[in-house]
Amino acid sequence: MDKIFYQNSGAEANEAMIKLARKYSVEKYGPRRYGIVSAKMSFHGRTVGAMSATGQPDNACQQGFGDMTPGFTYATFNDLASFEAAIDDTTCAIMVEPVQGEGGVRPATPEFLRGLRALCDERGLLLLLDGQRRPRDRPDDRRRPGHRVLRPRPCRQGRRGAGR
Ligand SMILES: Cc1ncc(COP(=O)(O)O)c(C=O)c1O
Repeated sequence: MDKIFYQNSGAEANEAMIKLARKYSVEKYGPRRYGIVSAKMSFHGRTVGAMSATGQPDNACQQGFGDMTPGFTYATFNDLASFEAAIDDTTCAIMVEPVQGEGGVRPATPEFLRGLRALCDERGLLLLLDGQRRPRDRPDDRRRPGHRVLRPRPCRQGRRGAGR
């Protein structure tokens, strides 16, 4: 990992990650390419951008606030074909949690993560990982089995790593 950007909360870290991805893509590919595909049943935080990345349109975390911010679409977690189908020429990144925490604990399979990595490399997309919950889940930790699965760029680390 080359750079660390400290933030106060997971939502703010995700806002920064979303903005970095959009900025990079718009500068590199043009003004229309800022879309992010995230997973259904994901949770990315309660700020407006992070809330819009959250794939739960029927849930209280999104209802009652009007329309979500444009530029987010949702695909089925652990289903590579669903993510592939959701990509179009406005897509700049795919954003997922390595372990979903809403509606149960649902880890991403190694095949899914490897598939996303390859898909992103093929299509020139960024892979954004959110939500490593414990220090030992850090993606740069070589003791972690997932380290051999993929090297995310960028990713966000929060929770106990930030003292909570
Ligand atoms: C995966 C994930 N992303 C983002 C957040 C938001 O973090 P925070 O409550 O620190 O803003 C959470 C919080 O539970 C989370 O589990």
